[in-house]
Amino acid sequence: MAVTSTSLASQLSIGLRPHHPSPKLDSLSSQSLSFFDPNIRLSVSSPKPSRTVIAMAGSGKFFVGGNWKCNGTKDSITKLIADLNNAKLEPDVDVVVAPPFVYIDQVKTSITDRIEVSGQNSWVGKGGAFTGEISVEQLKDLGCKWVILGHSERRHVIGEKDEFIGKKAAYALSEGLGVIACIGELLEEREAGKTFDVCFQQLKAYADAVPSWDNIVIAYEPVWAIGTGKVASPEQAQEVHIALRDWLKNNVSAEVASKTRIIYGGSVNGGNSAELAKKEDIDGFLVGGASLKGPEFATIVNSVTSKKVAA
Ligand code: PGA
Repeated sequence: MAVTSTSLASQLSIGLRPHHPSPKLDSLSSQSLSFFDPNIRLSVSSPKPSRTVIAMAGSGKFFVGGNWKCNGTKDSITKLIADLNNAKLEPDVDVVVAPPFVYIDQVKTSITDRIEVSGQNSWVGKGGAFTGEISVEQLKDLGCKWVILGHSERRHVIGEKDEFIGKKAAYALSEGLGVIACIGELLEEREAGKTFDVCFQQLKAYADAVPSWDNIVIAYEPVWAIGTGKVASPEQAQEVHIALRDWLKNNVSAEVASKTRIIYGGSVNGGNSAELAKKEDIDGFLVGGASLKGPEFATIVNSVTSKKVAA
């Protein structure tokens, strides 16, 4: 799917051009990549855009998700929904919000159909005697179209493992839910030069479990950037995204590499989203804190317009 009818679409062919050649990252060992702090880029250079517009390396539609995490009350969510319903959103962006489970029904029955609703987690199989869990069937019953899986807070606070997360993704997909499949390295893993190794391993766990990538959006969320205010630079995000796309090309297929949206998450806000969105391999965002403010979330959604640069 191409982004073809934004306000820019009459001038641009965003998403229509073929995937650019990727650097051969798989031949690099992690030892050849050194880091001093998270603001230093990996030592792999991205190819320079060769055309007059920066568009999307992938062919998928821009995607912005709001992960509300464990925040909100009935009252604050009523206000947030009113702000979102009144916001002007660029047309060719998939917009999704993920409220806490207990508010999903409230959100689904009052939010515009323009915005889809996601769960923040789901059980690994059919529901039943699993105290405290929420099943895929229940998310669907409430009208959810998506579920976030593998979020770093589930991995590192709750202790979910790669294989378990892969199984969850496979089950959700088999029941028709879209999966926002999160991956990302810890600060110490980045500093140890293991960013690609960790991300590829987490990606492989999804790849090993899922029968198809048609309904998956990958969210690259470096853990050191989540909720810290330390956003990855556009270059830092781009070089991991291009590596992920390259991994998909080499290990799944060129078609999946091109079609699968790879979105960035970690301290995205209304002030930094436009610069991040300019990067070819950044197909959207997963937003935590800033998604709790309707007008700011709308600004992030509308950063799709910055996919255009001057010749
Ligand atoms: P943040 O969270 O935007 O608050 O950093 C992102 C996320 O966890 O998805």
